[in-house]
Amino acid sequence: MKPISSVSLLILICLFLTEFHATNARGLINKACETSLHKGLCVATIKADPGYKGAKLHDLAEIVLKAATSKATGLQKDVEQLLKERAGTSVESALKDCKDNYADAVSQLEKSKQALENKRYNDVNTWVTAAMNDADSCEQGFKEQADKDSSIGQKTVIFGHLCSNVLAVTNKAAAEFHATNARGLIKKACETSLHKGLCVATLKADTDYKGAKLHDLAEIVLKAATSNATALQKEVGQFLKERADTSVESALKDCKENYDDAVSQLEKSKKALENKRYNDVNTWVTAAMNDADSCEQGFKEQAEKDSPIAQKTVIFGQLCSNVLAVTNKAAAEYHATNARGLIKKACETSLHKGLCVATLKADRDYKGAKLHDLAEIVLKAATSNGTALRKEVEQLLKERADTSVESALKDCKENYNDAVSQLEKSKQALENKRYNVVNTWVTAAMNDADSCEQGFKEQADKDSTIAQKTFIFGQLCSAVLAVTNKAAAGATVSV
Ligand SMILES: *[C@@H]1O[C@H](CO)[C@@H](O)[C@H](O)[C@H]1NC(C)=O
Ligand SMILES: *[C@@H]1O[C@H](CO)[C@@H](O)[C@H](O)[C@H]1NC(C)=O
Repeated sequence: MKPISSVSLLILICLFLTEFHATNARGLINKACETSLHKGLCVATIKADPGYKGAKLHDLAEIVLKAATSKATGLQKDVEQLLKERAGTSVESALKDCKDNYADAVSQLEKSKQALENKRYNDVNTWVTAAMNDADSCEQGFKEQADKDSSIGQKTVIFGHLCSNVLAVTNKAAAEFHATNARGLIKKACETSLHKGLCVATLKADTDYKGAKLHDLAEIVLKAATSNATALQKEVGQFLKERADTSVESALKDCKENYDDAVSQLEKSKKALENKRYNDVNTWVTAAMNDADSCEQGFKEQAEKDSPIAQKTVIFGQLCSNVLAVTNKAAAEYHATNARGLIKKACETSLHKGLCVATLKADRDYKGAKLHDLAEIVLKAATSNGTALRKEVEQLLKERADTSVESALKDCKENYNDAVSQLEKSKQALENKRYNVVNTWVTAAMNDADSCEQGFKEQADKDSTIAQKTFIFGQLCSAVLAVTNKAAAGATVSV
């Protein structure tokens, strides 16, 4: 037998890969059209578009939406043509309405395109349904006004089918998107858990996990821990009935109290979680864990053996530990989002927004901060800038003693001495929330820096070598004024 040549082998591999991709694409199209009421049309529409190869469900949704949109545009043109041809006839008014209907439909499908690109699948559903209704209105209106079907009736039916296919395929794409998202989110939520397998399993077992946020996942694990505690509370109660007057009665009585407490603490955690008081969740859940532990410890001491629920208590402890881990993640996300919003607000009126935002973000204290704290952060940055500039001027003065710029540098040194001392006074004022005073001192510091530059120009007939840095110092001071102003407004509101 002749050995297979490498060229033939290559051809075979190519054929195999081509076949493999084709099979894959067919599988995906079938899945995309699975729930469609017009499956044949759905599959044909997708296959007619060369873009379907190597596509994802989301891309297939875009293909069917494109087909529906082009149909709507065609119908809009048809109606316009008919309107021209039949002006002055009995169907003119019905056609005019149809023209409006299709203009709406086309615009709704364009909005759907935007929504689909941004994965706002619910909006796609809303707009495409609206477009279907528009086409329907055209036909209904025609029947009422002209007492017959419009001449585009058949095309309208197909347009309706295309829209219905968009809904079906979008639905599939949305499901895939949410499932992928949810998997990633669960992984993140359980990332630091000591009982990752249980954490992931608890979350996946809950039907609410799809499309949820980290916060919602914290609620799911808390719910699981609470239902576990309630079951254990019941079980201990049952044991207490069965074993009254035995040697374990007293230990079981204590356990019953422990689980009563644990359940009540988990209920408080639920409230705290709802109000995003994540630290309180941590406190209460830790207390519930300790309660379960006390039950076991007490049992060992009093009855000299493990409680009958010892194994279940271990799992309950693991569930609680997972609540702590996931809550921690949710809290971090919450604070980061909050901080971003707060920084935006703090710098809102700043003339140097980029610098303002960058200064705040560069400080690791910004997380979970209040507007007032942000004002302290920018003031700190401006002060350290002013201090550095003072040092620089002192250095220059040493290097250029007895030159033509000595006198100007001497003045600058005084200016920066003043500026730094004014910024230090501002710090005091800010701590005491005397925001107007902050304004006065920071403005004075800005003027000092300005005086240095003015004096330099007058005395030495040129810019100082720190002119560029002075400029940035001025911008930082200006950011301090803007953020302080916001903090002051916030303080007034909250009083
Ligand atoms: C506690 O939760 C675990 C894990 O979800 C579960 O297997 C167990 O049945 C629960 N125990 C009780 C008593 O509800
Ligand atoms: C002043 O602050 C700016 C912005 O934070 C920084 O880039 C610059 O290095 C600082 N200048 C001095 C002299 O510290």
